[in-house]
Amino acid sequence: MRIKARMGVSVDGYVSGRDGIPALARSGAFVPGRSHGYPEFIQGCDAVAMGRHTFLPALEAPSWPWGSMEVFVLTSRPLPDSTPEGVVASTDGVEALVRRLRSRPSGGDVHLVGGPKTIQAVCQAGALSSLDVVVLPLLLGDGVPLWSAAAPPPALELVGRPRPFEDGSVELSYSVEN
Ligand SMILES: NC(=O)c1ccc[n+]([C@@H]2O[C@H](COP(=O)([O-])OP(=O)(O)OC[C@H]3O[C@@H](n4cnc5c(N)ncnc54)[C@H](OP(=O)(O)O)[C@@H]3O)[C@@H](O)[C@H]2O)c1
Repeated sequence: MRIKARMGVSVDGYVSGRDGIPALARSGAFVPGRSHGYPEFIQGCDAVAMGRHTFLPALEAPSWPWGSMEVFVLTSRPLPDSTPEGVVASTDGVEALVRRLRSRPSGGDVHLVGGPKTIQAVCQAGALSSLDVVVLPLLLGDGVPLWSAAAPPPALELVGRPRPFEDGSVELSYSVEN
């Protein structure tokens, strides 16, 4: 079972602007679930995990983004009443989240959706297998950075070749040395 993160980032390293809109969603070519190599990435995953800030906007989305996949949310508080049945609020810390993900009977991979705080926490817990970034042809100047100066950076090793897309973005896949 691998825990795999994948983030769209601006050339200057932000996953979203000050307005909270993800970098990937700013590309005119972005089609949720279909563009920028997502179908290949998600193969083998049967669960998604994310932090509270990344989860909450999904409650307002026109359609549920994760189909039949198991959904785990790292948070310290109960989730809103509108949260669909079956979504697991993991309120007992990141190590407990990782144990929960690893003990799933399916053994399928987990897409760690984000955001950066949650990816950094899973990485610090020694459980991040890989980090893919889709570098988008835009500069944001400000916003939510992919990595915080406070979080120890892991060693990254490039896997395969950079993959360009028609909108000028490039996917880079790294294995993570925890
Ligand atoms: N570009 C992309 O592909 C992409 C993908 C996903 C998200 N994003 C962007 O990322 C931004 C949100 O990222 P974020 O890093 O601020 O938020 P996040 O990781 O989605 O959520 C943060 C919350 O998760 C919980 N959490 C995180 N680490 C924890 C830990 N160690 N122990 C317990 N709880 C923990 C806390 O919830 P409590 O407050 O309940 O304690 C924390 O407030 C948004 O702007 C979103 O658009 C971009």
